[in-house]
Amino acid sequence: MASTKARRIGILSAGGDCPGINAAIRGVGKTAILEYGMEVVGISSGFLGLINEEYVTLDENQLSGILTLGGTILGTSRENPFKKGTIFSSIDKPHLIKKHYDEMGLDALVCIGGNGTQRTAALLAEGGLNIIGIPKTIDNDVWGTDVTFGFDSALLIATDAIDRLHTTANSHKRIMVIEVMGHHAGWLALYSGVAGGGDVVLIPEIPFDIDVVAHCLKRRAVNKKPYSIVVVAEGIPVPKGEKAAQYLADAIQEKTGLETRETILGYIQRGGSPSPMDRILATRFGAYAVDLIAKGEFGQMVSVISNEVKSVPLAEVGGKLRNVPMNHPVIEKAREMGVCFGD
Ligand code: F6P
Repeated sequence: MASTKARRIGILSAGGDCPGINAAIRGVGKTAILEYGMEVVGISSGFLGLINEEYVTLDENQLSGILTLGGTILGTSRENPFKKGTIFSSIDKPHLIKKHYDEMGLDALVCIGGNGTQRTAALLAEGGLNIIGIPKTIDNDVWGTDVTFGFDSALLIATDAIDRLHTTANSHKRIMVIEVMGHHAGWLALYSGVAGGGDVVLIPEIPFDIDVVAHCLKRRAVNKKPYSIVVVAEGIPVPKGEKAAQYLADAIQEKTGLETRETILGYIQRGGSPSPMDRILATRFGAYAVDLIAKGEFGQMVSVISNEVKSVPLAEVGGKLRNVPMNHPVIEKAREMGVCFGD
């Protein structure tokens, strides 16, 4: 058993859930208990659990059987303790968190979450808590890591959905518009669009012109392509109050005269068991987070760069977004093969 000064660590999951969080909790917990002899405290519902002092001690048995489980056994919330104007606005939440962290006897806190969580984690680290961040999100948009767990599982689900739309689109000779998640980033739409053989792929990073989209689809019809698949990221700019898929389907049908239907994939993308790749990534992240704690290296977010797990300072991550670069090789190759990006 390796030696360490940290005896008792807390762990929480915050922000939107995704497949792989339980695998990360298990990675943290088992490494902490078995490798370092630490105690592990599971905090409920993200930062809310720290504010309300809702937590349980996790032993090794409670960490068994959760590797393949979707969601998070700890629960989650979008509570941002540094945001003003919520129901607790009269309470100094960061102060409460510090107080409860001390009262719970924590030597370190692992925060599993996306961009918002890493920003909060960075601020708590700045305030003097021993924090380690673990990035997760189906959006794959956390700065400082090549990939987040959750993304691969969501990609499988979105690609499977697109595969299914091909057969019904072909039967009815329709245009199918499918909207996938991703927040302000286009990773999920780009990857599922290309993996699913999308004819048009629209992502927030590439401004689109609806007339260009309509022209691409009409040209396919003229070239005797019986149907078309349009994959669209939820974050593309559309008129206020409209959903991306709905707006596009209406506009496409109006401009092309071709029968068009839309599908919004929604929360299905976040549910269910993590893919094997996500299980492995989450496990590696969880174990590495505890190694950092054992070395006393705090204020870091674990990350993977060129398949090597390492860490980046939380202060560098907080507040940044990792978007798809315009010259991403997947975009370039897809363009060469006739995929329309609407520009
Ligand atoms: O960040 C993950 C995500 O699923 C985004 O893709 C989506 O925009 C958002 O969360 C939905 O958030 P909520 O769970 O708050 O509805």
